[in-house]
Amino acid sequence: MIYLKTPDEIDKMRKACELTSLTLGQVARMIQPGVPTHRLDTCAREFIVANGGRPACLGYGGFPGTICVEVNETVVHGFPSTYTLREGDIVGIDLVVELDGYHGDMCYTFPVGEVSPEVMNLLTTTKESLYKGIDACREGHRLGDICNAVQTYCEKRGYSIVREMCGHGIGRKMHEDPEIPNYGRRGTGPLLKNGMCLAIEPMVNMGSRNIVIESDGWNCRTRDRKPSAHYEHTVAIHDGQTEILTSFEPIREVLGDRFI
Ligand code: MF3
Ligand code: CO
Repeated sequence: MIYLKTPDEIDKMRKACELTSLTLGQVARMIQPGVPTHRLDTCAREFIVANGGRPACLGYGGFPGTICVEVNETVVHGFPSTYTLREGDIVGIDLVVELDGYHGDMCYTFPVGEVSPEVMNLLTTTKESLYKGIDACREGHRLGDICNAVQTYCEKRGYSIVREMCGHGIGRKMHEDPEIPNYGRRGTGPLLKNGMCLAIEPMVNMGSRNIVIESDGWNCRTRDRKPSAHYEHTVAIHDGQTEILTSFEPIREVLGDRFI
C-alpha cells in the first residue's frame, strides 16, 4: 500500500532529508586518494548522531555500515572497509538517515581525483537521468513515466540499467511501496498523487546490466567488472508540485568546480 503523507509528515521528511544532505556534504570533504572508506563511514555516523539523527543503514538487515560504499564495479550495498580510494576511482556513497521518525535517502557518485572521460560520461549521464526521472515524477502522471524516463535517457547513450535493484517509497520506513524500477513503460503503474514520498535512484552500468551478489549477501557488483554509477534523491509530491527534499548543494559547496 502506498502511504500518502500529510503536510506535517512531509515537513519531517524535509528535515530528515536536510540532515542526510548535510551529512553527505561532510563526507564529500574527505573524498580523496589514500582515504580508507571506513573513515568516511565514521565521519557520517558521528555527524548524524551529533545532529540528533539515527544512521538507518547501520544494522538494517545486518548491514555493518552507516553508508554503502560503491567503488568502481560495485553497484550497491558495498561495506565500508580498509580499502583506500585511488586516483581514477569512482565511489558512490549511499546514505539513509532517520530523524524524528522519518527517513531521508540519497546517493552521490564521486570521481576520485582525475577520472577517465569515459567514466565521467557515465557519471554525468546517470546523474542527468535522475533528473529526467524527477521531471517525469508529477502529480497525475504514472509511476511508469519515471521508470521510462530514466531508462530511455541512459539506454540511448549506450548504457545499461540494473534490473534487480529499484527505487522505492520512503517515510516512516526506509523502504515503502511502491517499488520504482529504473526501466518500464510510460503510462503504466500507479497514479502519482499528492502526499507521495519517493526515493528515485538510477543504477547504471557502463557494460552489461548483469550483476553478481557476493557471498556476504550484500556486496553487489557488475558481472563484467565494468564501472557502475548511482545517484539518488528523495522527493515529495505535494500541492501539485514535486519537491526534491534531498540536496546536492552541500556537495557542490565542497567540490566547487569539480562538482559534476
Ligand atoms: N539506500 C539504499 C536503498 O535505497 C540502501 C540501503 S540498504 C542498507 O535501498 F542495508 F544499507 F540499509
Ligand atoms: Co534508496
